[in-house]
Amino acid sequence: MTAPGVLIFDSGVGGLSVSRCIHHALPSVRQVYLADNACFPYGDQPESVVVERCCTLIETALADYPVDVIVVACNTASTVVLPQLRSITDIPVVGVVPAVKPAAGLSQNRRIGLLATPATVRRPYLQQLVDDFASDCTLSRIGHPKLVRWIEDWVAGQSLPLAELDDALEPFRVDGVDTVVLGCTHYPLIVDALKALLPDVRYWVDSGEAIARRTAFLLQQGGHPLGLGEPGAQVMDAVMFSGAVPAGIDVFLQKWGMAPSRLSGGWPSSQTAVTATASA
Ligand code: DGL
Repeated sequence: MTAPGVLIFDSGVGGLSVSRCIHHALPSVRQVYLADNACFPYGDQPESVVVERCCTLIETALADYPVDVIVVACNTASTVVLPQLRSITDIPVVGVVPAVKPAAGLSQNRRIGLLATPATVRRPYLQQLVDDFASDCTLSRIGHPKLVRWIEDWVAGQSLPLAELDDALEPFRVDGVDTVVLGCTHYPLIVDALKALLPDVRYWVDSGEAIARRTAFLLQQGGHPLGLGEPGAQVMDAVMFSGAVPAGIDVFLQKWGMAPSRLSGGWPSSQTAVTATASA
């Protein structure tokens, strides 16, 4: 029996934070990572463009890489694409929403900070989450317009603009939040920098582990084996970018023990792998 496979989709490298959580929880599961970075950031795109591009790219990827679960590892896309995506495939789809519910379970002082993209902060589903799960909490929202771009650049080897980031986080200090929700899959990649800038925050919450649990549940429900996997086995079958391959991404993944068998840019027009870091 072959190991089950999961397709993880994002507008950029942020979904890799979810890939890592899935790899920790399910080390034998094979992964394919697809990023629509030609259209990054999704927060700046009309909803119709996001829906169209997600569905078309995921459908194209499935033809080459049949998988058992699809994870839309992007808050901005998940808010708009899930119904359409579920209508074009029978494969179970997992989306991601800001972890407001777990944050409300953790906060002692009932003051929660939400760090997200401007698009996620303004979408009505966020208010619904707050009304449903955190109605007794005060929610301080920062919809940062540049943070996803800074993180893409940081993954490619540039420094984070820490002074600007520090200024941007000031509302959380003023509001005295004890819990911060990372409402964008890019943000867990820099959680250490965020913790250093906000040392008084007690709880940092993201959705990665919950997505990994949901993925495990769906794979089990589909009758797929979830063995422990061989130590050091290569699990990343392919990493594909619709735009250019970000500099240093193979090194970045290698550090996590997730070196890809195939790394492609300009996908799907150019199906040529620009680098093969190891054989499958
Ligand atoms: N990782 C995406 C998210 O979780 C990035 C947002 C964007 O492309 O605008 O929302």
